[in-house]
Amino acid sequence: MEWPVFLGIETSCDETGCGIVSGEGEVLAGVVASQVAEHERFGGVVPEIASRAHAEAIVGVIDRSLAKAGMEPGDIGVVAVTAGPGLIGPLLTGIAAAEGFAGALGIPLIPVNHLHAHVYGTGVAGGVEPPYTGLVISGGHTAFYRWEEGQEAPQLLGTTVDDAAGEAFDKVAKILGLGYPGGPAVEKAAAHGDAWAVKFPRPGVKMEGLRMSFSGLKTAVLYHVREMGREPDAVEKADIAASFQRAVAEALALKSARALEETGHRTFVAGGGVAANGAVREALAGACRETGVRIVLPEAGMAGDNGVMVAQMGRFMYNKGLWISPAGAGIKPYAGGEERMQRGRRR
Ligand code: KG4
Ligand code: ZN
Repeated sequence: MEWPVFLGIETSCDETGCGIVSGEGEVLAGVVASQVAEHERFGGVVPEIASRAHAEAIVGVIDRSLAKAGMEPGDIGVVAVTAGPGLIGPLLTGIAAAEGFAGALGIPLIPVNHLHAHVYGTGVAGGVEPPYTGLVISGGHTAFYRWEEGQEAPQLLGTTVDDAAGEAFDKVAKILGLGYPGGPAVEKAAAHGDAWAVKFPRPGVKMEGLRMSFSGLKTAVLYHVREMGREPDAVEKADIAASFQRAVAEALALKSARALEETGHRTFVAGGGVAANGAVREALAGACRETGVRIVLPEAGMAGDNGVMVAQMGRFMYNKGLWISPAGAGIKPYAGGEERMQRGRRR
């Protein structure tokens, strides 16, 4: 049997992504157009601006992906697109492009949960398939998954009850006046700081099971700065950034060890923008090393939102018969919630 080529589209937040993978999972192309410049002066993602930027970028991003892969639209056999969770306007832009592409060619269409894609895409790149324990650490979500062999979708084990890990990085960057996007800015500042300079609470470690919380830590940073009664200088900012980063990394490592204990898995896969963070990667690797668990982390540039992970997740779902006809009812975007994932139709 000859497997089709998969095209994945990702527009859930502020990156317009397209990826092309072969039926065997080989990455043929990946293009991401970032909107950082558009949102920078507002200090965060503005949904309406994001929607418009996606609409302007999407055709060019798809064209560039096809050119990179040396392909024509007719060479694509299946289109996968992020249906959620994400910002509704941006999602609708990607979905419209995917429906148009699949509809014009009369090929299967697959609505993908982009959190599952963060984990699965990272796993494929690292050469692993379920069973494994997954962790998504992104700007909107922080969640653990149990993904057993043969399962159509992973089971959600636990999530943050308030802010996501990436959101905490973004807010702390704002408090320290480090700019947007916050994660890379905090990491850069932290590189020159003393991670033991300020004692922040390790977020959520006292919470039961795999529940997490990051808003208390962000507030602790805010109060620390307020109590100083003046703007911290560059050295103090570096110390605060490094101490905050250590608190996040340690909490994630502790909860990851707990998740692995619960699942009994021997493989751990972490994805999402925060998985690019060096301190977080080190802490997670440390937690796995202790118990001899194999860890798979995203390659450079593949932690954040991208189209390749969506194409890989589409391939996974297609092989399970979870696809819909492009002439069907249309994909409904969803902001959050696992249960609202729209299921494809079995062949
Ligand atoms: O997965 P992603 O690209 O988009 C979402 O699905 O949200 O993750 C974006 C998040 C942002 O909060 C960003 O600040 C954070 O990932 N991030 C980082 C780093 N790079 C991106 N956080 C910490 N350290 C980084 N190097
Ligand atoms: Zn994401």
